[in-house]
Amino acid sequence: MLTSWNDPLASVRQKKTEVHSTAQEAPALNLPRVDTLSIKANSTATPAPVVEQATREQLLHGVTGLEEVEFGAARISVDDKQMINCRADLNQLVPFKYKWAWQKYLDACANHWMPQEVNMNADIALWKNPEGLTADERTIIKRNLGFFASADSLVANNLVLAVYRHITNPECRQYLLRQAFEEALHTHAYQYCVESLGLDEAEVFNMYREVPAIHEKAAWAMRFTQSLGDPTFCTGTPADDQRLLRDLIAFYVIFEGIFFYVGFVQVLSMGRRNKMTGCAEQFQYILRDESMHMNFGIDVINQIKIENQHLWTADFRQEISKIIRDAVELETRYAYDSMPRGVLGLNSKMFEEYLQFIANRRCAQIGLAELYPKVSNPFPWMSEIMDLKKEKNFFETRVTEYQTGGSLSWE
Ligand SMILES: [Fe+2]
Ligand SMILES: [Fe+2]
Repeated sequence: MLTSWNDPLASVRQKKTEVHSTAQEAPALNLPRVDTLSIKANSTATPAPVVEQATREQLLHGVTGLEEVEFGAARISVDDKQMINCRADLNQLVPFKYKWAWQKYLDACANHWMPQEVNMNADIALWKNPEGLTADERTIIKRNLGFFASADSLVANNLVLAVYRHITNPECRQYLLRQAFEEALHTHAYQYCVESLGLDEAEVFNMYREVPAIHEKAAWAMRFTQSLGDPTFCTGTPADDQRLLRDLIAFYVIFEGIFFYVGFVQVLSMGRRNKMTGCAEQFQYILRDESMHMNFGIDVINQIKIENQHLWTADFRQEISKIIRDAVELETRYAYDSMPRGVLGLNSKMFEEYLQFIANRRCAQIGLAELYPKVSNPFPWMSEIMDLKKEKNFFETRVTEYQTGGSLSWE
């Protein structure tokens, strides 16, 4: 039997036809390509056998990459690929459709780093010196290690257990796999800081359950990933596709794009003042990774919007704007909690403005109206760190060559 890689669900397609012809309960789908393929395959091959145990997902929606491998199937073409609800074989990386996703994968690999490469000696000496840091400065370090230590696990779990299955494009999945590894490195980095400084690891790793301002952010994010992590969830209806889009925005645009930024500014500010430079260097590498994660997520979100314009309704846009506004409030509370008094030339008011500034940018990046008129960036130096490529370490604690593998020149 010859069918097509473009349609590895050929064996259940017949069943789908039967379902549609005998009952009207199946929701309407925006998958015109499937019907085209279906007609083509049926005209040249023996009708596929009906699979009685086909799941709703198999009948109605995209593939996962776990389907049976069909011998002799036709080769896929770029036009068969789409970001969600795709029916083309997911085990063939090429031909690339989304070249930007592949490029981000290559860039991420070129920026590879490991937490143990960062020298923590100065931090250890400073932390152990009773006069080394003020109580407020110590709070900043502990609070942020506490938030990020579990936050990166949440992000990794969301990627692996919730998002990955529903992104039906191999080059994007390739980046997701790289991102998942980077999230593991980030959690490793926080563990490495905790261990180096001799902090109480149970205290730090439990903060997301014990410190209200950290708990609020984690609990906020959990709702979205739990929705998608439900094993019975699948995309394919407008409501379910919006559910995926909502989760992607919650994690890529808000969690990684807003909830990380008070912490980044605080710890990097310490590094700029030559304090806790090892921790700051770890955060600097993490910020660079996170900035790429967010940009990848925004590209995915915008591509889904292009391919599924019916999802981006006025109601949905309004809902997302409200979610972003609530998130800014939550992160502002975190800023006040982790920095109750002014320190390091920073104060909570500046963070409020900064959060509004970056929220406006995030809105613009996904095609929403800006939420906070006339705000400016009180921390312009942050973009300098984010744009850092392979030059000297920002804090000048050592000279580093960030780029690895094929990007290095050996002359
Ligand atoms: Fe991360
Ligand atoms: Fe991330």
